[in-house]
Amino acid sequence: MGKDKDIREMFDRISERYDLSNTVMTFGMDRIWRRSLIDLARIRPGMLVLDVGTGTGKLLKQAYKKTENGIGLDVSRSMLKIAKDRIERAYLVEGDATEIPFKTESFDRVVSAFLLRNVPDLTRSLKEQVRVLKRDGIWCGLDTMPTSPQNPYGVLVRFYFRKVVPFVGQWISRDRDAYEYLYLSTMSFKTPQEMKRILKEVGLRDIRQKTFAFGTTIAYYGIKP
Ligand SMILES: C[S@@+](CC[C@H](N)C(=O)[O-])C[C@H]1O[C@@H](n2cnc3c(N)ncnc32)[C@H](O)[C@@H]1O
Repeated sequence: MGKDKDIREMFDRISERYDLSNTVMTFGMDRIWRRSLIDLARIRPGMLVLDVGTGTGKLLKQAYKKTENGIGLDVSRSMLKIAKDRIERAYLVEGDATEIPFKTESFDRVVSAFLLRNVPDLTRSLKEQVRVLKRDGIWCGLDTMPTSPQNPYGVLVRFYFRKVVPFVGQWISRDRDAYEYLYLSTMSFKTPQEMKRILKEVGLRDIRQKTFAFGTTIAYYGIKP
């Protein structure tokens, strides 16, 4: 079984309780991080926005506060079903972030939250995201990040991810594996330095980053020249 199929099945499985688990595990901070990402993307009325890995549509809902034109893309039908319940007028598409089913240079903004860690081929997905972005368009991505050796809260953060998160995941979602995966995929994900290099490699410029919550979460920003 490939990583992509495993991931889709995992999100299908946890979809019903995904939002509640997220809110509990982040003490409600996830909402603030998504709002910061939308602010970073400087979305203006009329702009066409693509939310990649839209999941239950929380980021897309924030984007709709800025523009009436937004599309959510996701591989998990169950997650999309919840997004549809959340935003009745949402335009949602079932599809893969490594093979985005839209024309080149069609979006003013491409955003994502907690997707990047999950795609089977990060560079390929980012190239696709940059391909569908218009010139001078802004790309923004939010995700968890591995704790750096310099992080004074590193021990605490790792303990929280490794022990508390799977416990809460088991308690709320009845799916410990999915939340052990959250720890493993976070700690093995790209460092900010590696991400910066990849974002440059896929053609983004003016790359910036902003960290949240004791260096556990990070927003990346770049412009397509
Ligand atoms: C951790 S959830 C994040 C959902 C949402 N963006 C949020 O902020 O809560 C990751 C989402 O990415 C989707 N996903 C994972 N791999 C994907 C891929 N290759 N293409 C599109 N969506 C994908 C999953 O189905 C899931 O809905």
